[in-house]
Amino acid sequence: MDNLISLVNKIQRACTALGDHGEASALPTLWESLPSIAVVGGQSSGKSSVLESVVGKDFLPRGSGIVTRRPLVLQLHKIDEGSREYAEFLHLPRKRFTDFAAVRREIQDETDRETGRSKQISSVPIHLSIYSPNVVNLTLIDLPGLTKVAVEGQPDSIVQDIENMVRAFIEKPNCIILAISPANQDLATSDAIKISREVDPTGERTLGVLTKIDLMDKGTDAVDMLEGKSYRLKFPWVGVVNRSQADINKNVDMIAARRREREYFSSTPEYKHLAHRMGSEYLAKMLSKHLEGVIKSKIPGIQSLINKTIAELESELSRLGKPIAADAGGKMYSIMEICRLFDQIYKEHLDGIRPGGDKI
Ligand code: GDP
Ligand code: NA
Ligand code: MG
Repeated sequence: MDNLISLVNKIQRACTALGDHGEASALPTLWESLPSIAVVGGQSSGKSSVLESVVGKDFLPRGSGIVTRRPLVLQLHKIDEGSREYAEFLHLPRKRFTDFAAVRREIQDETDRETGRSKQISSVPIHLSIYSPNVVNLTLIDLPGLTKVAVEGQPDSIVQDIENMVRAFIEKPNCIILAISPANQDLATSDAIKISREVDPTGERTLGVLTKIDLMDKGTDAVDMLEGKSYRLKFPWVGVVNRSQADINKNVDMIAARRREREYFSSTPEYKHLAHRMGSEYLAKMLSKHLEGVIKSKIPGIQSLINKTIAELESELSRLGKPIAADAGGKMYSIMEICRLFDQIYKEHLDGIRPGGDKI
């Protein structure tokens, strides 16, 4: 079923690439019907750190102030062991990045291209795919951090603009919310919890992540929070220990950081009993499994939308007649092929679960 996530990835990319070319009205609805995971939290709560740990790479812009100013749709694709890892942007289709510092620069440049250097925000996403043997198949959307005050040079409206953008993503019923809260702050004041509670009051589609457990005051611990006693969600909280700023300055690499994180949970007496469901590696696997499960449960709805999209694209193509603009036509064919592939995999999946269709 790994290929379900990667197929959904492909449909999402095809929908975006088609953009204004596609007049098929089912396209935006199709995109919205596809489950994805959005990362939300206050500024400096550890969002970028969590994303980088999940990927196992340094590739996100850093700095103080509002660094993430456009949504980043990050698609992770697992490739064969021993293959070289690389990254690709949707807006630079023929360029393969093997240098992840260059990926970081391109995210910055592409952000500035859309927003100007004025530090404005824009809801037009950047699409980045990472191909690596060390990732699990997963789509994550990084969003600007929630903030309480505008910094110098930014209009006061930015606080509300960010909140509105985040809300627009997470209020969609197919959005899984990865709510990042720092353990060294009261959960009651967490921006992530505040906004996710608004759109998902029962916590059914909110996954809570507790960062900065290592920075809690001496004599306090996160056990009550991790056991859901402070704020209950449908799914258990996951605790992580990311690299500190000092670690980043010292270039502590991700592999060493993950090892240290594992040791932290297994050797701290308070957390020993929870160690098997803590840490970035566990989080990555849990997210992939969760996303797969959600996709499976939404298959019938996705399926009927895909049929509608295929029909609309077909009629659009025939209306355009034979001499189709090479580009638009090509893109439409590719989304149709992908939709058909989804259709086929879906049917195989059904055969596998239908009584009598069981394989012996
Ligand atoms: P973002 O603004 O939400 O993307 O937050 P960042 O990931 O950039 O983290 C903000 C700062 O907190 C950085 O200096 C990180 O090194 C630090 N940080 C994040 N998570 C942890 C953690 O679990 N432990 C420690 N010690 N520092 C962390
Ligand atoms: Na927060
Ligand atoms: Mg960040």
